[in-house]
Amino acid sequence: MPDEASGGLFRRLSCTNPFHTIKFFVVCQGFLQLTQLLTSGYMKSTISTIEKRFGLSSQTSGLVASFNEVGNTMLIIFVSYFGSRVHRPRFIGFGAILVSLSGLIIALPHFITGPYEYERFASGSSPNATDMCLPHQKDPSDTEDVCTEGMERENQAVLALLLIGQTLLGVGGVPIQPFGISYIDDYASKSNSPLYIGILFATTSIGPAIAFIVGSVMLRFYVDIDKFSPSEIHINNKDPRWVGAWWLGFIFAASIVAISSIPYFFFPRELPKEEESPQKNITEMNKADLKDELKNKPADMEDFTLGQFIKMFPVVLMRNIKNPIFVMVIFALINLSGMIAGLATFMAKFLERQFTLTASVANMIIGMVNIPGAMFGIILGGAIMKNCHLTLKQATIMCMFSMGFCVLFDVPLLFLGCPTQEVAGLDYSGSSEVGQLVTECNKKCKCRSSSFNPVCGQNNVEYISPCYAGCSALIYNSELNKVENYTACNCVVVDGALGYALPGSCSTYCSRFLLPFVIIACISGFLASLSHTPAFVMILRNVKPEDKSFAIGIQFLMLRVLAWLPAPVLYGSAIDTSCLLWQIKCQKKAACRYYNNTAFRQRFVGVQILYELSCFLSFCIVYFLLIRQEKQALQEEASVGRSPESVAESRV
Ligand SMILES: *[C@@H]1O[C@H](CO)[C@@H](O)[C@H](O)[C@H]1NC(C)=O
Ligand SMILES: *[C@@H]1O[C@H](CO)[C@@H](O)[C@H](O)[C@H]1NC(C)=O
Repeated sequence: MPDEASGGLFRRLSCTNPFHTIKFFVVCQGFLQLTQLLTSGYMKSTISTIEKRFGLSSQTSGLVASFNEVGNTMLIIFVSYFGSRVHRPRFIGFGAILVSLSGLIIALPHFITGPYEYERFASGSSPNATDMCLPHQKDPSDTEDVCTEGMERENQAVLALLLIGQTLLGVGGVPIQPFGISYIDDYASKSNSPLYIGILFATTSIGPAIAFIVGSVMLRFYVDIDKFSPSEIHINNKDPRWVGAWWLGFIFAASIVAISSIPYFFFPRELPKEEESPQKNITEMNKADLKDELKNKPADMEDFTLGQFIKMFPVVLMRNIKNPIFVMVIFALINLSGMIAGLATFMAKFLERQFTLTASVANMIIGMVNIPGAMFGIILGGAIMKNCHLTLKQATIMCMFSMGFCVLFDVPLLFLGCPTQEVAGLDYSGSSEVGQLVTECNKKCKCRSSSFNPVCGQNNVEYISPCYAGCSALIYNSELNKVENYTACNCVVVDGALGYALPGSCSTYCSRFLLPFVIIACISGFLASLSHTPAFVMILRNVKPEDKSFAIGIQFLMLRVLAWLPAPVLYGSAIDTSCLLWQIKCQKKAACRYYNNTAFRQRFVGVQILYELSCFLSFCIVYFLLIRQEKQALQEEASVGRSPESVAESRV
């Protein structure tokens, strides 16, 4: 099917001005939407790295991740209002430039801050490392956690830049999809328009997967790759302190968005309408259905003035909120979207922490397995809906089953994970955040609690620094320029003698759970996304035809405000509650260093199951409401004596 179109495309390109053909516009639009999604998806793939680099809690990073919805939500109504009155290609072009600019702003914190210091008080290369347990060491309290005014200001500037960048990313994205689709719809022939929109949908659906794969590649490089040569970097990407080059991908994404914005300044305001092609075989694709699948499609509200729209919005909202089926389907969608938003933001972090993977590997798994699984679910759900001509009731049953099985599949995930590596001094009972870091064996060392340089003792217990392990000597490899072995460790007692400790975290040896976990998570993601398209279609079929565009608008706002915005923050807060040891920066909690893995898993998967369960229950309620409605309709018909036409009307 696409061969036909692209063949025709290239034949025409050679003889006509490409900027006067809608086909070239479709190509540009596909590329632009792909790069736009790459920018916003890449943000999610680097969130755990940004957390570590700038010392953010998961709650804060969740807020950063969802902040692009703010700009988007505030402006999207105006786009629908302006409709076709503006020079649409030019607006898309400006939007794309804004997206590109926002990518650069998000990368800016890397350039305005100094190099990343994974150990603030000891350079890992120096054999004179102050991380050691040296008697007569100066009391650390006078040097510890000095928070200059500059540092505080720098922290605020970083967060402000991330939030401003994310807001602009949302604002820039506003015109791109709605204007692009309405432009195509206006100037493509009736028979080709659904095909074009289908091609756009297919191209853009691979965007998030590509974003995570780009993330996987970029995070393999060290963050300060532009400031240090590789020989000066003494940690590898398995080290818990490793931070990848998160900013590199934003610059890459910003550049290709900028390139893809160029053609839009050459498209005319209006195009000649594409000629109707003779073969009509593609009109079978239901155009409306395809458009509904595109989440960002706003209402066609060009016929209203802004005043009318604002006046009518509450009226239509009230009218539809009284329709319990509409409300329950929206509620189901809010739960589904909330779950997806939270997972998209923190799944990589979860894999990293739970299975001690590098950020790079975690992103690769998500980009290659989980996202394709979910995309397949969305597309299959739409195809079943369209080809099997499901009635509303059948669609609801399908949603109930897919969500029900999704919950069943996710329950085992509560138990599939690794226990926390035993870290000396951390309290797992949950009674206090930090247990007893200072014990008899390291009391005389006067360790700095802010230093983070994990070592693995001979006894397979992890210590947050050689100092806390009580090590007073080391073996230094001057060729590789790094410490190989910390010895004479007072806290590592093996067979009555002082043991040694090796740099780095202890391995948890539990990769055996990784494969089952990834497979089950992929299946459950597939099942959950199966109900995505049917739920959208159910909303459209459940409102009066004249309210349809408003219903899309209402549903759109509700999903933003109640799902996409708060869910990552909620997930982040749940994750934060399972933290055992916080990094302290300027007397405030910064990033989490150690999680209670079991609590992390149970809370993360628990929030996910709660969302799925309430989505499942909403579909069940919709089902019973539909049955009741059907019965009422039948009773009415029996009393009036009409043929049951109205039941057939509810076919999708
Ligand atoms: C370590 O300390 C000694 C004396 O305290 C000094 O001579 C030496 O240069 C230091 N080495 C490094 C790499 O800083
Ligand atoms: C570390 O040093 C200790 C004591 O010198 C030695 O027994 C041990 O084998 C060393 N370990 C490694 C991995 O080099």
